[in-house]
Amino acid sequence: MTTGAVLTAAGSGSRLAAGIPKALVLLDGAALVLHAARRLRLAGVVEIVVSAPADHSASVLDLLSADSVLREARITVVEGGASRQASVAAALAALPAAVDVVLVHDAARALAPVSLIQRVEAAVRSGHDAVVPGLPVTDTVKRVAAANADGAELVRATPDRSTLRAVQTPQGFARDLLDRAHAAGAERAASEASAATDDAALVEALDRPVWVVQGDVAALKITTAQDLLVAELMLREEAR
Ligand code: CTP
Ligand code: MG
Repeated sequence: MTTGAVLTAAGSGSRLAAGIPKALVLLDGAALVLHAARRLRLAGVVEIVVSAPADHSASVLDLLSADSVLREARITVVEGGASRQASVAAALAALPAAVDVVLVHDAARALAPVSLIQRVEAAVRSGHDAVVPGLPVTDTVKRVAAANADGAELVRATPDRSTLRAVQTPQGFARDLLDRAHAAGAERAASEASAATDDAALVEALDRPVWVVQGDVAALKITTAQDLLVAELMLREEAR
């Protein structure tokens, strides 16, 4: 029984617009990908495959290999693809055969706590083959039609909020199921427009059950400069 992690870090970070790939942006002196990898290791994960931006594989490997928290981790770095889905698939292909449970995690969720990572892994080990952490949605969410000429969008529906969950990473899977889900959905990975936005969606497409466990606000996705400020505050809070 070996748990492995796929850590996606190959995105460009266009919405953060930091001038460098988002996973390399520093938070309290450490790159986002380093924060995320450390927490995976502290949760007990040894096998970690990172998908890095083109031309950054060597620097990502150096950065992670030099870290004392990751001393006992086995880190592999692969080049990411054209979509997050493609980057996950590339990393998945590089996971050792002995790995039977996979945690798929985003460097963008750099502060996902150890307790959350362990909760997801435990749920998979207890027999749920696909597990996502989720939180109740606090906004009212509207489904809309395509925008008209002046940019306004017509509301089509208001889903019952009590049935909605905002899902996070790490998402945990039985390895064979995740491999099959990615193989079946492979043609979607060519661009972000067609790709699945999370791995659980590929499992859902196989008509296999996906389960939600409790998420954690600290696992927020760092997308914008404002999110980075929030993450800084959270890290400071954590250190108190
Ligand atoms: N990711 C990846 N490969 C891609 C695109 C995204 O590995 N081709 C990773 C990102 O590095 C990030 C995670 O997927 O850890 C979630 O993606 P997102 O938050 O959208 O990050 P970016 O794609 O980098 O940001 P943006 O969409 O603003 O460009
Ligand atoms: Mg993106």
